[in-house]
Amino acid sequence: MKKIVLKSPLDMHLHLRDNEMLEVVAPLSAKSFAGAIIMPNLVPPITSIKDLIEYKERITSAVGSEKFEPLMTLFFKSDYNYNFLKDAKRYIKAIKLYPSGITTNSEDGVSSMDMEDLGETFEAMSELEIPLCVHGESDGFVMDREAEFCLIYEKFASKFPKLKIIMEHITTKKSVELLKKYENLYATITLHHLYITLDDVAGGMLNPHLFCKPIAKRPEDKEALLEVALSGNEKVMFGSDSAPHPQYQKECCGCAGVFTAPIALQALVQLFEKYNSLENLEKFISINAQKIYAFKPIEKDIVLVKRNFLVPSSYGDVVPMFANEELEWDIEY
Ligand code: NCD
Ligand code: ZN
Repeated sequence: MKKIVLKSPLDMHLHLRDNEMLEVVAPLSAKSFAGAIIMPNLVPPITSIKDLIEYKERITSAVGSEKFEPLMTLFFKSDYNYNFLKDAKRYIKAIKLYPSGITTNSEDGVSSMDMEDLGETFEAMSELEIPLCVHGESDGFVMDREAEFCLIYEKFASKFPKLKIIMEHITTKKSVELLKKYENLYATITLHHLYITLDDVAGGMLNPHLFCKPIAKRPEDKEALLEVALSGNEKVMFGSDSAPHPQYQKECCGCAGVFTAPIALQALVQLFEKYNSLENLEKFISINAQKIYAFKPIEKDIVLVKRNFLVPSSYGDVVPMFANEELEWDIEY
């Protein structure tokens, strides 16, 4: 049977939630990954070192005995000053900026009015070498939100050339082009945006389980994402944006977020194999992230074998991407 060993796979954008949901999803990520960047959009969001340390402890306890490193982030606030950030630095890998109200639990984010007035915090982050992760969407027409936000990315990138800016979950050709223009811009790409377009969400029967922010775009956008991910380009890394919501909330109320954590590696290997790019897979799922974030992950080998894997219909009450479908690769535990 064909086998592939992946060295320390990393998920550089992950939602683990809290309480019962955390207990269900944290062990699943820990089975596949050596570490993950943990998003801070809890209710209320993680904005203090105390809350961050306590959240990290809850994650570690939910993970149990599996080797897995939660790489913590704070929820961006414009009133973080130099001294606060200096103290915070040893507990965090990055700070995540959300435009207010643009996605799940982002109400306390930055308003569009304040978006160009963040200089002091950005200066401090540059000096302390704390990367800035950004949910890059405007409040415009849903298909244009990311493209509109590119103007803001350009301002951030040119005004703060020493600030590492990570364009989270990019979905457009335009973002891929922008990434190449500024040395200090990097990006995460999800699994689902490499597989689907808006057609899969709303072209036939509405599929709420594929609905997420930013929404999947056009075929040419997906092609651009595939090109940059499959080529092993050093500016992009895997970030699942796995964002679990209970099944009834996805189906009754259309919460945004695709749950991919337990099937992501299997589907990524399948994709890279299909496009004859397996030699670049390790760059996309580990090496590039290590360079961008300048860190060494814990050592952990994950073995994938080529045998059919029937994706469960649910994990707890969360429906994964590819539920009840077969993938061509499985993880050997
Ligand atoms: C995420 C969530 O549910 O927390 N939802 C999503 O659609 N991606 C938030 C986010 O990353 O935008
Ligand atoms: Zn996210």
